[in-house]
Amino acid sequence: MTATKGLEGIVAASSSISSIIDGVLTYRGIDIDELAEKASFEEVAYLLWHGKLPTRLELKGLQEQLDQYAVLPEPVIAGLKLYPSGTHPMAALRTAASSLALYDEEAQDMSREANVRKAIKLQAQLPTIVAAFARIRQGQEPIAPKKGVSVAHNFLYMLTGEEPAAVAVEALDKALVLHADHELNASTFAARVTVATLSDIYSGVTSAIGALKGPLHGGANEAVMVMLDEIGSLADVESYIQAKLDKKDKVMGFGHRVYKNGDPRAKHLQRMSRQLGELNKDMSLYEMSVKIEEMVTGQKGLKPNVDFYSASCYTMLGIPRDLFTPIFAMSRVSGWTAHILEQLADNRLIRPRAEYVGPVNQRYVPIAERG
Ligand code: ACO
Repeated sequence: MTATKGLEGIVAASSSISSIIDGVLTYRGIDIDELAEKASFEEVAYLLWHGKLPTRLELKGLQEQLDQYAVLPEPVIAGLKLYPSGTHPMAALRTAASSLALYDEEAQDMSREANVRKAIKLQAQLPTIVAAFARIRQGQEPIAPKKGVSVAHNFLYMLTGEEPAAVAVEALDKALVLHADHELNASTFAARVTVATLSDIYSGVTSAIGALKGPLHGGANEAVMVMLDEIGSLADVESYIQAKLDKKDKVMGFGHRVYKNGDPRAKHLQRMSRQLGELNKDMSLYEMSVKIEEMVTGQKGLKPNVDFYSASCYTMLGIPRDLFTPIFAMSRVSGWTAHILEQLADNRLIRPRAEYVGPVNQRYVPIAERG
């Protein structure tokens, strides 16, 4: 038995939800490039859950369910108010998402029908949690979700209390489409492992949020913004990045386990970053990002991943940097729950083996002899 570090190249599940073949990402067989240009996030979520694009009527039905479920149970809001100051929004989201199960009477119902409903509930509630926590930590009251608007629109509205600009809604919607699913990424794998024990969907999503939080996965988008803030200006990019490359430090937002010739999602976010810069009449973050890319790709051959340009995009949308990973979660929950449904439809416990590399033939030494 020999272990493959990081399970690189190991095929650990069969799935018909999303694929990465020859560097092309599809959701249910539809190229991400086409979805990014044409589909709304709600259509994509439906596609991931049901394996087909919704009819008008089905989309309307989904919108009504999202409207109905977006309101948080009062004790979950009360809980958010109790978290200590300085709590990271991803820690708040992980805790609050877990607590949702306590107030859902069908939390333990493992029927597919109930699980599909809970997938939609989680999709509706995660954005409300993120926006509510963002306000509560600033001493503001949470804003109740609006009915009949998209997830992107509602989130920006709940965050600020103001009607978001159409361009901001469109940009966030596209970002949500691009982040919705990604084959067997670390957080999705965590979700599948958890529910494969026949644990409930809330446990699966809570595991996934915990896995997404780390900077090698979803936490990279926040880490990119920390880096851009530390650099501060275009003139300082070169010395900062060169020092990192010389020390062999990782530059966040670059590299990928699966894509070696570039992440197909990155170009959409790069374009969005440029357009938002033009609209805001401030190209500094975009220009710094392009310069970083030139250096990292030029010297290391590493290409930007989905997290790199999303950092400048979200900042130009006025979103605080520690909400970037929670935004990733409120999109990826569609993919997590689609994978949970797929796992449960044909379940087998996920229980691999470990290659033992510890000592052998040891004996128990009584405590009196151990000093
Ligand atoms: N900056 C500098 N060097 C890098 C980077 C980077 N971002 N990524 C990989 N490398 C180098 C490594 O140092 C290593 O070099 P070495 O062989 O000389 O030791 C080599 O490339 C291979 O890197 P690994 O870390 O082994 O690659 P792995 O497939 O395990 O990791 C990962 C992939 C985690 C994405 C990695 O590229 C990384 O840490 N990137 C930065 C974090 C990041 O952006 N994560 C988001 C990924 S996308 C997502 O999850 C949404």
